[in-house]
Amino acid sequence: MFLTKEQQNMLDGEQGHAIAKLTNLVVKIGEVNGATRLIPIKNAQIAGVSYFTVGDPIFSFFDMLSKDKVKVSVPSWLNPAGMDMERWEEMGITRNFAEKQIKIIQHYKKMGIETTLTCTPYLIGHQPKFGDHIAWSESSAVSIANAYYGARTNREGGPSSLASAIIGYTANYGLHREENRVPRIVVNVKTSIDNFSDFSALGYWYGERFHGVIPYFKGIKSTHLDKVKMLGAAMAASGSVAHFHIENHTPEAREVNMNQVTEIVDFDASEKQHTYGHFNQVKEDADLVVIGCPHASLEDIKTIHSFLGERLIKEGIKFWIFSPHNLIKTDNTKNILTALEEKGVKIFTDTCMVVTPVVRENYQNILTNSAKAAFYLTRDGTNKVNLLSLSEILESVSE
Ligand code: F3S
Repeated sequence: MFLTKEQQNMLDGEQGHAIAKLTNLVVKIGEVNGATRLIPIKNAQIAGVSYFTVGDPIFSFFDMLSKDKVKVSVPSWLNPAGMDMERWEEMGITRNFAEKQIKIIQHYKKMGIETTLTCTPYLIGHQPKFGDHIAWSESSAVSIANAYYGARTNREGGPSSLASAIIGYTANYGLHREENRVPRIVVNVKTSIDNFSDFSALGYWYGERFHGVIPYFKGIKSTHLDKVKMLGAAMAASGSVAHFHIENHTPEAREVNMNQVTEIVDFDASEKQHTYGHFNQVKEDADLVVIGCPHASLEDIKTIHSFLGERLIKEGIKFWIFSPHNLIKTDNTKNILTALEEKGVKIFTDTCMVVTPVVRENYQNILTNSAKAAFYLTRDGTNKVNLLSLSEILESVSE
């Protein structure tokens, strides 16, 4: 791989042992994937935050980094942690877990990383720009950055996104290169795709069948970001699909080279029904509703608020929404949040249903409108999940 003098110096340890190791990681990943050079990045989104997913080994990694007092060199943001950083006791998190989680966040903060703790940085003012090379790691954020904003990122691992955030470079391979961003499959959407869970079902269906292959969707009419994020998240979960195009909507769709398309498939009412049917597992009463995968926007929250009206969440059911703290802790949202809490809806921030341990540990029968959440919560058989539309969920759990 060609390295500039500055990059070679970093690799040779002239800026310390930690920078050398991190540069080596980025170079090695690039070499394995056929990159011939490193390219500068504009920003990074870093996963590997929840103590539930990273465990104690992360502390020896931090020790290595803190010896050289390394800091990020580009704006960098964190993925969700394993708990709401303020209301963790209410969630059922233990003190031991909380202490470890706080320590992890402090380490990241010391490196200059903004503790956004969300998988939707684009909802809190961190939208990537068209053509920007970035190093993002949460799979739904990656697909939205590529597809909705036209930025360029591979799905980085936690360590590689952190390495790129610190050295300021990533390797030029995969979705950083124009030729790898073209669709191979056209999907004709021949059934109504209206609400969040429909978008989620389409994404889940596609990812499960066409692992890692970039699709070009035709026939999707409404493409609000809140809906498209459900599509991207589900595709990324079931099929590691990190980029997609939607005819007449996503920024690369009009110009993209269609010559590589090898297959045209239909998504019709029976495919949609089949996907919902796959996550129709809750036979007894639900004990938990989880909304906000990816993290809920204010509009999502307002929709729930207005649907509920005077209704209350039924006794015995917990209703949790996950959202970014920067989004909801503003004065004009306080009234809505208070009203929702009085009706039995809790809005937790900084975490989500998948990266917190308490959903697995304390609940069994779960309702959600997110196929990504359904996929991860049912993967090891711990939880049973029904995938439903938001209105079906609200109808069944409120009175
Ligand atoms: Fe975000 Fe957690 Fe879902 S990180 S995309 S809410 S699994």
